[in-house]
Amino acid sequence: MERYLVRGAGKLSGILPVHGAKNAALPILAASLLCDGCELHNCPRLSDVDAACHILNHLGCSTRWQNETLLIGAGDSRDCSIPDHLMREMRSSIVFLGAMLAKYRQAKLTFPGGCELGPRPIDLHLSSLRKMGVCFEQQGDALYCSVPKELHGASIDLPFPSVGATENIMLAASLAKGDTVIRNAAREPEISDLAGFLNAAGGCVHMEKDGTVRIHGVEKLQHCTYSVIPDRIVGITYLCCAAITGGRITICNTEPNHMRAVFPIFEEMGCRLSIGSHEVSLQAPERLKAARSITTMPYPGFPTDALAPIMALSMVARGTSIFTENIFQNRYKQAWELCRMGAEIRTEGRIAVVRGVEHLHPASVICTDLRGGAALVIAALVTEGVTTIGEIRHIERGYENLPAVLNQAGACITVE
Ligand code: UD1
Repeated sequence: MERYLVRGAGKLSGILPVHGAKNAALPILAASLLCDGCELHNCPRLSDVDAACHILNHLGCSTRWQNETLLIGAGDSRDCSIPDHLMREMRSSIVFLGAMLAKYRQAKLTFPGGCELGPRPIDLHLSSLRKMGVCFEQQGDALYCSVPKELHGASIDLPFPSVGATENIMLAASLAKGDTVIRNAAREPEISDLAGFLNAAGGCVHMEKDGTVRIHGVEKLQHCTYSVIPDRIVGITYLCCAAITGGRITICNTEPNHMRAVFPIFEEMGCRLSIGSHEVSLQAPERLKAARSITTMPYPGFPTDALAPIMALSMVARGTSIFTENIFQNRYKQAWELCRMGAEIRTEGRIAVVRGVEHLHPASVICTDLRGGAALVIAALVTEGVTTIGEIRHIERGYENLPAVLNQAGACITVE
């Protein structure tokens, strides 16, 4: 089992390009099942993307890398099911449900795996698809999905703007009969990217500013070429790496607009930002100040996936920070591991209180989930000595070559 050895190594500096967004690429890969093949640029090479490719291969599509472009060849399979071992590889495997229903009008799958962020039900996915004519039957841990009459458009009001449910409805609706309207849909940039891909393939998806998505079902989708948006959470993570070391970096190939909810927090912590059209430069102070209150919300609010990286900064900032997590129930699993490095964190339900300390010390820690793992790497950059980070498979789900990228900016991370 590989692990990172991180040696605290002073201020980071340099220019770091940001790779394509995992959370945009995965639903787009599910959508590619519906096209006559596609050419996907800026697709990140991550274990979760590999897992999506394995599902596509199982469903008869070919997948081939050409540098950072993923070529997907159309295919067909008589087996409209996803085996349990592929479903467990990642939580987002559930987004294949909408695509399979659109293509085969049936599907069989088991309940998905992924990050352990508390209960992650799929009731909103199922109740929405039911309105579109889908029937579900659960047998053991298997879910049998069928469309007895026709897959048709529907008017759907989501009680919560679930990202995954919005994506599944969009996928099913793109080849359903008639029109679908989703109200209170998720508005994350990754949703707009899925809409962009479906439209590039000949679909008809319209997103309104108030969180309404309108989809007109079409007969079929064609071959298309598309470029995935940059990963906003990866960009924020790189900025955090520089900020904790008192460094100065520029992230490029990025979309600053997608990260704007996090910029005021960096500024409150004493960082100076310079924001261009596709790049962000950050100059950190010698010691960060605490950001008083960080509250996660659906987009365009502060993203839940940025909570753990910012928490790592608050551990060494001057003062006390209060985090309120409103999206997932169990987002503080990394807190125990961070405390092993000398952090002072108290959690109670959705709240975490972090009192900044002057120094962190090296420890042997393990990743509990993807963003929690990133927080461990950020914190380890300022420990005086070598921190060992295990279970790095969590980090590799969402960060492409993180050690090599950070070493390029002056970090000292080895993989063994
Ligand atoms: C996606 C992202 C994840 C991000 C999250 C919120 C991907 C692959 N993952 O996850 O990185 O943190 O959005 O921005 O894109 N819920 C229900 N019932 C449902 C669906 C969701 O109760 O049917 C609840 C969940 O338990 C959770 C909340 O809604 O508490 C948010 O879930 P959702 O927006 O669906 O997130 P994901 O799509 O799982």
